[in-house]
Amino acid sequence: MTKPRVVVTGTLRDAGLDPLRARYEVDVLGDAPARDHVLDRLPGASAIVSRTSVPIDGDVLDAAGDALVVVAQFGVGYENIDLAAARRRGVRVTNTPGVLSAATAELAVTLMLAAARRVAEGDAIVRAGKWDAHGADTFLGRNLVGATVGLVGFGRIGQTVARLLCGFDVRIVYSDVADVETDLPAQRLDLDELLAVSDFVSLHVAFTEDARHLINARTLALMKPGSVLVNTSRGAVVDTQALIEALREGRPAAAGLDVFEGEPNVPAELRALPNTVLLPHVGSATESTRDAMARLVADNVIAVLDGGEPLTPVV
Ligand code: 8YV
Repeated sequence: MTKPRVVVTGTLRDAGLDPLRARYEVDVLGDAPARDHVLDRLPGASAIVSRTSVPIDGDVLDAAGDALVVVAQFGVGYENIDLAAARRRGVRVTNTPGVLSAATAELAVTLMLAAARRVAEGDAIVRAGKWDAHGADTFLGRNLVGATVGLVGFGRIGQTVARLLCGFDVRIVYSDVADVETDLPAQRLDLDELLAVSDFVSLHVAFTEDARHLINARTLALMKPGSVLVNTSRGAVVDTQALIEALREGRPAAAGLDVFEGEPNVPAELRALPNTVLLPHVGSATESTRDAMARLVADNVIAVLDGGEPLTPVV
């Protein structure tokens, strides 16, 4: 009997590949595969391992054909997948929630501190051999300790950020579109109020069309002068052009960004701003987290191909 075929539209660490290869024929397409290449390799696939950079729409699902039973996303976000198209074809969709919350929350805190203490700017000056003086006003930043931190989106990752910040003696406020149950000492506000009182604003919303440009010219104008904006969720939650203009005016004073609209392209105007720390979408990029994500992807594929329920279903 021929083995079921699994197509990986990217790369996957051995923690996920080994259990898949032990059972199935696995076709790894490599990072950033062209759409035509994906469509060529899909016919007959029983499972697709997907990632946010590769759209999984009705045509992609049709290219796989009737054998397809599961799309297993490597990541917690899944805005690249047409869920309605999957539902119509009876294809299950899974993601990797939970296992990446700590790594992503750590990166959000890293960006808060790095942007507030001007880490990238200072590093660039030292590397360029331009460090020449030690004035009382040289490279002043802002404290996180004692600040008010506004978490926009208070799900798994937002709440993990709040937990990590407990030792910083901060006041936590949050906003969310959904009801939130939490035992954390955090006050719920609506988004406008949150922006007006927060020294640090960190974005942790799941991306939906409603979240597009949640942070825009109007909402940026509500932020405190001197505040810091951090985005580890999705680039499109922020109107990039409005942010560039706001950063030029110092409101917010600085931004730490791990995600961008249209990534991996980052506008030159944003790259030119000294009051930004810019990272290449590495929220979940620790070895143990990427292993746990890969393993969960494999476990979801195996569960569905064995005829069972996926561990972390979306559809
Ligand atoms: C990426 C992420 O999926 O989980 C998410 O939603 O954005 C990340 O973990 C990961 O970098 C692989 O593309």
